[in-house]
Amino acid sequence: MSNTQNIQWFPGHMAKTKRQISETIRIIDAVVEIVDARIPISSRNPDLMGIIGNKPHIILLNKSDMADPAVTNKWIKYFNDMGNLAIAVDCKTGKGINDFKNTVKSVLSEKLKTNREKGLIGKPLRVMAVGIPNVGKSSFINKLVGNTRAKVENRPGVTRGNQWFSVDKELELLDTPGVLWPKFDDETVGEHLAFTGAVTDRILDTELLGMRLLEILIENYKQMIEERFNITDFSIEPYENLCLLAKKRGMMIRGGEPDTERAANMLLEEFRNCKLGRITLEVPNA
Ligand code: G4P
Repeated sequence: MSNTQNIQWFPGHMAKTKRQISETIRIIDAVVEIVDARIPISSRNPDLMGIIGNKPHIILLNKSDMADPAVTNKWIKYFNDMGNLAIAVDCKTGKGINDFKNTVKSVLSEKLKTNREKGLIGKPLRVMAVGIPNVGKSSFINKLVGNTRAKVENRPGVTRGNQWFSVDKELELLDTPGVLWPKFDDETVGEHLAFTGAVTDRILDTELLGMRLLEILIENYKQMIEERFNITDFSIEPYENLCLLAKKRGMMIRGGEPDTERAANMLLEEFRNCKLGRITLEVPNA
């Protein structure tokens, strides 16, 4: 999927997805929710918890290669304290994928034991993968299932079109039926999704977005930004700082004015490609 896709909110689609997940959840043993480790709250679907009820729920903090490792550890603790297991993964390299497999099997060891006792030897555990667009769900499935992507036949009585994959003898994975959406009506959520490139820039003011990102980075990752752009005299005025960035990179328009739009684009691009360093924009409440 493209890095800057046009996510649009369709209430009808969301209702359909919820219905499909609710229908399927009864035959699932656990849910794996993929989130973006840089924005673990904004990259969640707010209704999911209500739909999956008390099924075992594992949270994958994906793209952890781009996130601040110290903050990722805080998130793992935070989710653990909330009763969910959380694992940091990187689906570009596959780091953490084995941890995931082991975790699922240990969380569901009772279930495997009961299956065996009931004579259901060889009945695999069924896990459903969910996540809003762009968190890396397809990359996760690819890494977990491998290139063969052995598909399992659709289960009778369950929504048609569900995609099942065989991971190994003990584990089957179901891709989310439908598309889950983030909490678009929250301004901070929209902004954080835009910073990471999960929503297209075309519907947003790039200059404002860049200015806002710079403000957040100066507040939380000042040293990183100072070193990257060789600037130590940041102002308290966000627009001034964008001008400073433009000047430092020689981005000027005719008349000698700083090209703040280009500077904003450059900052967003460098953040999205992790050129500024490993940064997390959301920190759990202590
Ligand atoms: P989705 O199914 O949830 O929509 O996400 P998808 O797997 O398509 O991944 C969205 C983008 O995020 C892809 O980049 C993908 O390569 C990247 N990605 C996924 N997991 C990770 C990760 O753990 N670390 C990093 N650094 N990137 C990850 P893209 O630019 O859209 O495509 P491409 O770079 O693969 O060509």
